[in-house]
Amino acid sequence: MKYNVCGIVGLIGEQIRVSALVEALEKLEYRGYDSAGIAFLKDRKLNITKSKGKVENLKNQLQDRLNEVIETGIAHTRWATHGEPNDVNAHPHSDCFCKISVVHNGIIENFRSLKMRLQELGHNFLSQTDTEVIPHLIEEHYNGDLLEAVRKAVLKLEGSYAIAVVHADHPDIIVGARKGSPLIVGVNGSTKGLASDVTPLLKFTREVVFLQDGEIVELSRDTVKIIGFDGTIHERNSVHVDWSYEDAQKSGYKHFMLKEIFEEPSCIVSVLTGRIKNGSVVLEEFEPFEKTLIDSKSMKVIACGTSYHAALIFKYLLENKTNITVDVDVSSEFRYKRINLKPGSIVLAISQSGETADTLESVRLAKKHGAKIVAVTNVVGSTLTREADCVLYLNAGPEISVAATKSYVAQLVMLYLLMLRANEILNDSMEQNSELIDRLMRFPEIFENSLKFADKIHELARKYKDYKHFMYIGRAYGYPTALEGALKLKEISYIHATGYPAGELKHGPIAMLGPDFPVFAIAPNDSLFPKMKSNIIECRSRKARILAVTSDDNQEISELADDIITVNSSREELYPLLMAPVIQLFAYFVADELGFDPDKPRNLAKSVTVE
Ligand code: F6R
Repeated sequence: MKYNVCGIVGLIGEQIRVSALVEALEKLEYRGYDSAGIAFLKDRKLNITKSKGKVENLKNQLQDRLNEVIETGIAHTRWATHGEPNDVNAHPHSDCFCKISVVHNGIIENFRSLKMRLQELGHNFLSQTDTEVIPHLIEEHYNGDLLEAVRKAVLKLEGSYAIAVVHADHPDIIVGARKGSPLIVGVNGSTKGLASDVTPLLKFTREVVFLQDGEIVELSRDTVKIIGFDGTIHERNSVHVDWSYEDAQKSGYKHFMLKEIFEEPSCIVSVLTGRIKNGSVVLEEFEPFEKTLIDSKSMKVIACGTSYHAALIFKYLLENKTNITVDVDVSSEFRYKRINLKPGSIVLAISQSGETADTLESVRLAKKHGAKIVAVTNVVGSTLTREADCVLYLNAGPEISVAATKSYVAQLVMLYLLMLRANEILNDSMEQNSELIDRLMRFPEIFENSLKFADKIHELARKYKDYKHFMYIGRAYGYPTALEGALKLKEISYIHATGYPAGELKHGPIAMLGPDFPVFAIAPNDSLFPKMKSNIIECRSRKARILAVTSDDNQEISELADDIITVNSSREELYPLLMAPVIQLFAYFVADELGFDPDKPRNLAKSVTVE
């Protein structure tokens, strides 16, 4: 399972200049741009430069040194997960004597306990990052053999990582290791290297080894040695990659949107990482607010767009599963209403970017009325995180395509966790809880399987692409899914699509249906399927074509729908998550078939920083 959080690269060769590492980093900048940093060896001395913000800032700082020939070096572009994006938290991180330097992509789950232990042993820490434990652990195990020290250190790490390590006393090698995060090794040519993806390596070589979980590599100018975490030698064949640079950035996918949908299984892992211990949900950040939630039995939620749809699903979840009332507002509406919040009450602000102007303004207003802000966001250091009282990070990695896809899935997983935690503290339906937790843990695998149906969805997109209108319908958990399906379709394919609660059709919208106005029905085999069935029959009798997304245990739907997409059968509250990739892929393929660029829809921006 891959984590796409930061970009790392290391190079070794005869004529490498500082500028080569900076260029390599520029190729990885799409993975994160909170900070950039470099560590290189020259005359057996470790030189480290780090800078908040884009690689450009780092380049300016290194201006006088760009032409210097170096022995070896590593570099990093950061998508912050632990600690503010600032110079101190920027990678590379070092040991106590600044001899060892490490760049890391991933999350070290047990960093707190490791840090405490290392501090007891006298190690001095500078940053708030999880990464900093790695160079100190290597220092602790170093006995003249860097490869062996790295091997011993990684055995202590829990979580996911791809790392690259240099040591001032070993100017002739770079050591890398991987567990859970990608690491690719460029294996021939006069310059060798390793990186989070092939993009920065393509300039030097097209023969690469995709390191596997549990492997460590030692690269010198002439040799590549791969060992397992147990120390045994691994023989690995290289593969030839003929992707262009652009293709490589998208890992071979045609668009970022498609790549990001396919990253959803790994995003689910990212959100769950460290959040479930001994069968119960751990949301340490939220602990100070638990008592308020129990006492007030209510929560206000504000968000915009796709995040608003995630908020609506959360309302159904919490209200169906607990006795907590959830009141959801679109941020742009909330900020102009009379505010009716009790001091100390909880306001949940959901925003992928953490920069949405309406959500930020609403947060400020709510704070003025004494509310406590709990933020759910993907961007560390965003304005929302600075203004909130507590932040639940998604760690979904940068989302480049304008349309929210993997961040929506990550939001949903986080909101399921929040619902489960509320259930735990209220001590309600613990049995159901543990079943839900088990199911959530299996979701990455289930998603991998669902994504195998992309070709079928593509085929349906070809069939439906020429309709000018779509009606998305659903009930209960299916209703926000219908809203989100309609939003995805209209924003990237420019086809008019509208989402409705299925029961509302006969109160007006059914008047529009006919042979030219198909219906996309969110119709799993859940407790409300009999009602959905009647709604679908109503639509059919107006001669509307029916494209239904359902669960694989639904036998009846084949008589009702013209076309069917199935997902694994599950508990009804989990269908919004299971159906997310279906509605996203359908919109993506329609847009692509119509010749539009799904990554850059017209009139839209990734962060809506204006009202
Ligand atoms: C749709 C989409 C937007 C955002 C909305 C809120 O695909 O991306 O609707 O969801 O602009 O953005 P955030 O979540 O960053 O506050």
